[in-house]
Amino acid sequence: MPLLAFETSCDETSVAVVDRGRILANAVSSQIQLHAEYGGVVPELAAREHLRNLLPVARSALADAGIGTEEIEAVAATQGPGLPGALLVGLKAAQAVAFALRRPFLGINHHEAHLYSPWIHGRPLVADFADFEPNVSLVVSGGHTMLVQVESVLKHRLLGSTLDDAAGECFDKVGKLMGLPYPAGPEIDRLAETGDPRAHAFPRPLIDDPGDDFSFSGLKTSVRYFLRDHPEVLETEKGIRDVCASVQAAIVEVLVAKTVRATRRLGLRCITASGGVTCNRSLRQALASVCARDGLRLELAERALCTDNAAMIAMTAEQKLRAGAAATSLDAEIEPAWTLG
Ligand code: KG4
Ligand code: ZN
Repeated sequence: MPLLAFETSCDETSVAVVDRGRILANAVSSQIQLHAEYGGVVPELAAREHLRNLLPVARSALADAGIGTEEIEAVAATQGPGLPGALLVGLKAAQAVAFALRRPFLGINHHEAHLYSPWIHGRPLVADFADFEPNVSLVVSGGHTMLVQVESVLKHRLLGSTLDDAAGECFDKVGKLMGLPYPAGPEIDRLAETGDPRAHAFPRPLIDDPGDDFSFSGLKTSVRYFLRDHPEVLETEKGIRDVCASVQAAIVEVLVAKTVRATRRLGLRCITASGGVTCNRSLRQALASVCARDGLRLELAERALCTDNAAMIAMTAEQKLRAGAAATSLDAEIEPAWTLG
């Protein structure tokens, strides 16, 4: 039962085809280059770029999947949350395709799709929930940082989220202060590899707080003051690497400590993680070592599926259809501020 899905919530235009858990295609066109010169995503440019790219990306996904439009049995799109203009392009296009093909349409919550993306593995990629286990899921990217308790497939409860900046936003803003190109997360990851994470003691916001919320703006401000008072650290390669490693260590420690604490408190034995920041090697290693130490199972989204993609939207829509979910109206509007229930 091939299902076609569109994802256009932020700065990746992506179209995927899934059939009974198998990801037949996951075409992604990233706009990173376009936004890099502005130091961040420009919403209006993102929307126009989605409009330009969506059909070519969709054609390429259908070609990769080796299917014609007449074989599509259902259509899905990210309905929210995200940038309004960007969401509109994918949602309205998907509703139009569903209308033309007379197939059911499903509007999907982007965060919900991230939650289940760690269960897609292998070559070819397959979404497999046969060995699903209740877990605490860390969803961490440029736009979101949240901890969610996932009780069963499609049943979850938001535990906490960031009160201000997302973790990826913190990487990006600190990088900007250091003069690194946007998005700075991958660059900080690379530079930190040979830096000293103990060179500078930056704050670990809310690390000892018993709640599940995060806060990263104080860390960013502390780095800003540090760089203002010690501009010389950016004059040497070692100085730059040490700042990167120290900032990364602060972010990673907070993410790992809070995820593990919530898992223990809830008596769960499994942690999953997804979202762009889950590409970070230090975060992946830190989660792996703490899970090995505590005998916890760890399911990390594959690198290619950490950043935004339509495969996770398609897979979530397919799960919902299997569970008997009703189709979304073809008149349904975007939900730019849709929170996870
Ligand atoms: O999931 P994503 O593509 O888009 C959002 O929904 O935000 O995540 C992008 C974010 C950016 O903030 C980027 O700097 C961060 O993920 N990121 C990383 C790494 N790769 C991407 N942060 C740290 N280390 C990385 N390797
Ligand atoms: Zn995302």
